[in-house]
Amino acid sequence: MEVIILPNLEKAALLTARIIEKELRAKPELVMGMATGRTMECVYKYLVEMHRKENLDFCRCRTFNLDQYIGLPSDHPNSYLQYMQEQFFNLVNIDPTCTHLPNGMASDLRWECRSYEALIQAAGGIDVQLLGIGASGHIGFNEPISALASRTREKALTPSTREQNAELFGGDVNKVPNRAITMGVGTILEAKRCILVATGHAKASILAKAVEGPITSMVTASALQLHPNCQVIVDEDAASLLQGREYYRWIFQNEVEWVEFQDMDALDIR
Ligand code: F6R
Repeated sequence: MEVIILPNLEKAALLTARIIEKELRAKPELVMGMATGRTMECVYKYLVEMHRKENLDFCRCRTFNLDQYIGLPSDHPNSYLQYMQEQFFNLVNIDPTCTHLPNGMASDLRWECRSYEALIQAAGGIDVQLLGIGASGHIGFNEPISALASRTREKALTPSTREQNAELFGGDVNKVPNRAITMGVGTILEAKRCILVATGHAKASILAKAVEGPITSMVTASALQLHPNCQVIVDEDAASLLQGREYYRWIFQNEVEWVEFQDMDALDIR
């Protein structure tokens, strides 16, 4: 795991987008694992700008979203398909037939989860998986005590996750579905590369547990400590409770692989 600390959400999102850009230019048929949520909006904003101003080409890439609420029709304003279309799919030249989300309206949810796993396998696995972290420590919707070897499946959401997302449902927690389909922790760990983005004071405590605490199903993001190619890109606020901040900064400033990403002004969209 590598932790990269940047001044704010904008810079964290820009670096994340630049890393994805590099992967995509090297492999145009990249399989991207997508996340939703407020943190990711800024990452998608930069990818869209790179498409518009720097000809970043998404026409051959494939995408798989982490999760989807159960029981929300795909045209519901809070469905993750709507989110992805508004934030990303409709704004770049991606082929809609190459974008995938679990279907939370499937009549046979078990079958839906198994087929989603099979689709990921058939695509050759996920090359780069984007992740946020929830107040409950979740990645995807892998809530506390999710098996660390879990696969795509149905999951009941914790009260804290439903509260975290209530704002998007007009502030009414009762409108937030209580179940979702999510890729499992095991599914996520099979991605070739994982990038977790976390910003803001509200994430500081759970991020410290995920990065520096023990690996535990109580904080499923901590399972990323097992991943051989995982970057955690955070702002100063989210990093504020990390014990190893100075060491992480030193690594980012000194490791050869990061040289091309160190000058944040140079990373700006031209
Ligand atoms: C969404 C997802 C979640 C979010 C997490 C952070 O697809 O998988 O794990 O990434 O809840 O959400 P925000 O960015 O809204 O704080």
